Amino acid sequence: MTSTIALKEVAYEQPLADSEGAVCSTKHAWARVPPEPSQAERAELKARICRLLKEKNAVMVSHYYVHPDLQDLAEETGGIVSDSLEMARFGRDHPAQTLVVSGVRFMGETAKILSPEKTVLMPDLDATCSLDLGCPVEEFSAFCDQHPDRAVVVYANTSAAVKARADWLVTSSCALEIVAALKAAGQKILWAPDRHLGAYIQRETGADMVFWNGACIVHDEFKALELELLKQEHPQAKVLVHPESPAEVVALADAVGSTSAILKAAREMDAAEFIVATDNGMMHKLRTLNPGKTFYEAPTAGNSATCKSCAHCPWMAMNGLADVARVLETGANAIQVDTALIPRARQPIDRMLAFTAALKSGQSTAGLVPHLGAA
Ligand code: 13P
Ligand code: SF4
Repeated sequence: MTSTIALKEVAYEQPLADSEGAVCSTKHAWARVPPEPSQAERAELKARICRLLKEKNAVMVSHYYVHPDLQDLAEETGGIVSDSLEMARFGRDHPAQTLVVSGVRFMGETAKILSPEKTVLMPDLDATCSLDLGCPVEEFSAFCDQHPDRAVVVYANTSAAVKARADWLVTSSCALEIVAALKAAGQKILWAPDRHLGAYIQRETGADMVFWNGACIVHDEFKALELELLKQEHPQAKVLVHPESPAEVVALADAVGSTSAILKAAREMDAAEFIVATDNGMMHKLRTLNPGKTFYEAPTAGNSATCKSCAHCPWMAMNGLADVARVLETGANAIQVDTALIPRARQPIDRMLAFTAALKSGQSTAGLVPHLGAA
């Protein structure tokens, strides 16, 4: 059985009249995009951040979608650039007292839930996510109450309060394996919030799922018809698609997967050209790790596009070098999570991390997923 609830119209804030830098003001979102530093400013900011990281016993944790400066600097200073799953694991395990998380708010909150004793700083606390915004905890709790017989599986792109209602957390790197294991254990699933990812997982696993009706405003804009036209222009190109994209786009893919799965496919597939349907922040890593290969952005603009379709998350774009330096200097933008929520919100995250650690090391995951009635 499957069911959906009506898509929730999210009232996003409007652009600030006095915003510095470029402003992304689509039908769906707004963002203050920091001005691009000059070469001299960039060098000065990087040197200042390196010094501050040492002074404050801090480490940078950056997502693949943020500005290349923040990806490169994280790696150059002993931090990490990765997907949301590895960001969580790295932040939990690293001995630094302060984590500087460049990404969107749920990533900082996950780091704080896993390490409440650490200071977690973010360049801009307004960097959010349409999936998180579109899944308010009161309505989500009511949805869960309607389905008490289902395991509640939520995507990492959610608030701490939503995580605290969940049985399992997943990211796009492990959702398939976790839902398949739950199905094998006889469990029915309540899935939230990304409807495209949920539908993809259901098609792949055949699990019994009901869905929250959320979407990523970036991936929702990829267009199948325009993608087919681009494929005709580049007939040798392989198509790599993030499963937050619509089903018709996923159907055209040679490989479907998370940000890290896309990187792996680009490295391992025997092709010289790729069309990539995910946030174009990924292009930096794809191109630097595969200098002999060519990457094209999958098309977003089309008759049904609802924004100017730049294929870049407006909230990821809010992260900049100047704010990293500022928060390290001042301690501003520290993530706070209600301490009463932390123990319960941590449970589904710990389950995901234990499950994926077992998978990675080739151990059995059987004991980690209770059979129905044994939970
Ligand atoms: P990953 O979990 O693949 O890092 O993706 C996070 C995200 O926000 C995708 O849009
Ligand atoms: Fe959220 Fe989409 Fe931005 Fe990822 S790319 S943070 S899912 S809005």
